[in-house]
Amino acid sequence: MTDSTTDSQQNVVRDITSRMANQPGALLPILHGIQDELGYVPPDAVPTIADALNLSRADVHGVISFYHYFRTTPPGKHTVYLCRAESCQSMGGVALEAHVKQRLGIDYHETTSDGVVSLEPMYCLGNCACSPALMVDKEVLGRVTAEGFDTLLKTLKEGA
Ligand code: FES
Repeated sequence: MTDSTTDSQQNVVRDITSRMANQPGALLPILHGIQDELGYVPPDAVPTIADALNLSRADVHGVISFYHYFRTTPPGKHTVYLCRAESCQSMGGVALEAHVKQRLGIDYHETTSDGVVSLEPMYCLGNCACSPALMVDKEVLGRVTAEGFDTLLKTLKEGA
């Protein structure tokens, strides 16, 4: 790995990879473990993982890019997961999505320029009765309006 990841990040990648490398189907658990720990999978982690699993770098990169869940850049301080599933879509989720993207000035899988908010799509948060729903970090919110989102965003930015 190069200087673009810190020593402690490199240690996390090496530790998780070596602990899980002998499991059957180890690649996905390793990627999840790294993202759970670091918030993303640093591109510099790819050679370490590939070497440990005897895969090509292209194989590892292909899996990371196939699953949108995996990030290759550090997330913002907070992550907003916007529900795009059917119930939320039919209860104002489409308009809410447009509003959220416009207010943040970003699309899915991106982070605001101030580094405060990342935006990710979700497909049902299990909160359909209170559609449209979103999740901020680990807190699920329901019946979210454009005004409600603006208030939430203000709170996130003030706490940043
Ligand atoms: S469809 Fe959005 S929470 Fe279920």
